[in-house]
Amino acid sequence: MRTTPCLVILAHPDLAHSRVTRRVQAAFEAEPQLVVHDLYARYPDFWIDIEAERTALSAAQLVVWLHPVHWYGMPALMKQWMDTVLGYGWAYGPGGTALAGKDLWLCASAGGAEESYRAMPSAPAEAHPFEPFLPPYRQTATLTRMRWLPPSVFFHAHQAAPAALDAHVAELLARLRRHPEGLDDTPWALPAEVAGERPLEGGL
Ligand SMILES: Cc1cc2nc3c(=O)[nH]c(=O)nc-3n(C[C@H](O)[C@H](O)[C@H](O)COP(=O)(O)O)c2cc1C
Repeated sequence: MRTTPCLVILAHPDLAHSRVTRRVQAAFEAEPQLVVHDLYARYPDFWIDIEAERTALSAAQLVVWLHPVHWYGMPALMKQWMDTVLGYGWAYGPGGTALAGKDLWLCASAGGAEESYRAMPSAPAEAHPFEPFLPPYRQTATLTRMRWLPPSVFFHAHQAAPAALDAHVAELLARLRRHPEGLDDTPWALPAEVAGERPLEGGL
């Protein structure tokens, strides 16, 4: 039984019509020691309670970012959450160690098929298909000294068969329940030339 406190930051501007995220949310919410912050429900005016978010983050060991891919990145309120909550002197910079040592796991869904992402000219052959769009996420983890876990991206979100969606949700739950042992045991790995990149250690 997993005992790691987990905070899920969920950002979906139209959750009522979601096929994937809503299913994942329901599955996650049934898990013990797991708190879901539905950002669009909590902050419809984009006015984020920074202290409340930081308190919840401080209590978590595993932080999950759960969102649909919008324009190859995160929905606007997720970005607003990062801009305001992950502040200088708290998440990074002098004394900014609040997130150090925590684990960060991106669980996203994309309308595009996995093959279409693999076919992108900038996609390294053996890397995660979403790799060209991951550096801002990964660099955020580096700067805040969080451990970047292999991301889970569900492709072809609208067309994928119900069985594929069921399997995706089951896989997310299995990985969650194995944490901290199992989350980074997946075969996914960056190719050497990408893994060897020196992360930007400087501030923003
Ligand atoms: C505004 C907007 C932008 C989107 N941009 C992308 C994109 O850049 N790449 C992609 O693969 N899918 C894109 N999609 C499709 C969503 O990723 C897809 O609808 C979502 O992952 C499905 O998850 P859900 O069932 O939880 O809504 C976009 C959808 C919307 C509404």
